[in-house]
Amino acid sequence: MNFNMSKCLEAFSLVLDFAEMDYFKINLNHSRRVAYISLNIAKAIGLSEDNQKDLFALSLLHDSGFTLSGLKLKPGFKMFELMPDHCIEGEKVISYLPFLMSRKDVIKYHHENHNGSGFFGISGDDIPFLSQIIHLADFLDINFNLAQLDSQKRVEAKHYVVRGKNKLFSPDVVDAFMSFAHKERFWADLLFYNIIEVLERIAPQIIYEYSWKDLIPISETFMKIIDSKSKFTYRHSRGITEMIEIMSDFYGFNTEKKLKLHITANLHDLGKLYIPNSILEKPDKLGSVELSEIRKHSYFTKLVLDKISGFKDISSWASNHHEKLNGKGYPESLTGEELDFESRLMGVIDICQALTEERPYRKGLTQREVIKIISDMANGGLIDKQITIDVGNVLGSRIR
Ligand SMILES: [Fe+2]
Ligand SMILES: [Fe+2]
Ligand SMILES: [Fe+2]
Repeated sequence: MNFNMSKCLEAFSLVLDFAEMDYFKINLNHSRRVAYISLNIAKAIGLSEDNQKDLFALSLLHDSGFTLSGLKLKPGFKMFELMPDHCIEGEKVISYLPFLMSRKDVIKYHHENHNGSGFFGISGDDIPFLSQIIHLADFLDINFNLAQLDSQKRVEAKHYVVRGKNKLFSPDVVDAFMSFAHKERFWADLLFYNIIEVLERIAPQIIYEYSWKDLIPISETFMKIIDSKSKFTYRHSRGITEMIEIMSDFYGFNTEKKLKLHITANLHDLGKLYIPNSILEKPDKLGSVELSEIRKHSYFTKLVLDKISGFKDISSWASNHHEKLNGKGYPESLTGEELDFESRLMGVIDICQALTEERPYRKGLTQREVIKIISDMANGGLIDKQITIDVGNVLGSRIR
């Protein structure tokens, strides 16, 4: 099938940005604004179409290492400790994505300064050119709050770029930026209510002929980011993926459905990236406001996956994993008649996997305890009875 990678990455960037917002309080859509500024610079310089495509993808993913690097930090860490590490972790993310594998070091060096005063001490043209572009775009958005209309800030931003020529920024990139920085249109496009529409309009179309099998490693890369959001869920999606594989064989699903369910399992908690770690890792029982925040994660999973063409089934199966047969689940309060077999299966498996994992307020449960809880839930009309029996029988030996 034709797979639109631009749309997919734009959609994923929505939730990836939340992690950075959580750490740095940057306005939402940071990655989109960086992609927009980078593309404008690339056009001014006359970069080839292929370079523009890669630059667009890399800008959207430039901070995808934040979640992975955050996981390794001890409580009370200093923000600067995250910085070099997110470059290294982000570089690893790119190295797993088949369509960007040839773009070595662009993410690793996206914070390097032209004069060599950055984290890794690389200078001048030793810094990959695409990194030089992303660096300027990123710097502007972090320091000048470009999502909001502030004429004074624009003037300051332009001065800053000019002063940074040959020091922070490459002279070619600065000249390219200044060639369009006088245009009102450029700054207005960056405003928070314009950027999504504008970027969709100017984004290069990155279309690949992909099979479902080709999408497995890509979804797996995002699965690693999702699982690393919290130390309590570091194996959650991976565990569900393993369980769904076994249950797919048990039910004799065809290859296409197996692959789609595998991708579903990898991405079902994509919306967790939206939830601040202060809630995910809170040591006490959560209050009602925090619980309602947590419940939004499957809504965000749907918001993102609905944007990806060809993902209709995957989006429903993934975002329905907290729905209940009695209509008391979320985010849609669907009822038994509205929940298909795959959604019900995802729901049961998600509960089993979550119960075996440790949480801040409780230990992981034993096999006996898990089976007792899911049987009670099935008897109470919350989850599918037959699936609960099947899962209990097939996976029983795998659960502690
Ligand atoms: Fe960064
Ligand atoms: Fe950034
Ligand atoms: Fe979930």
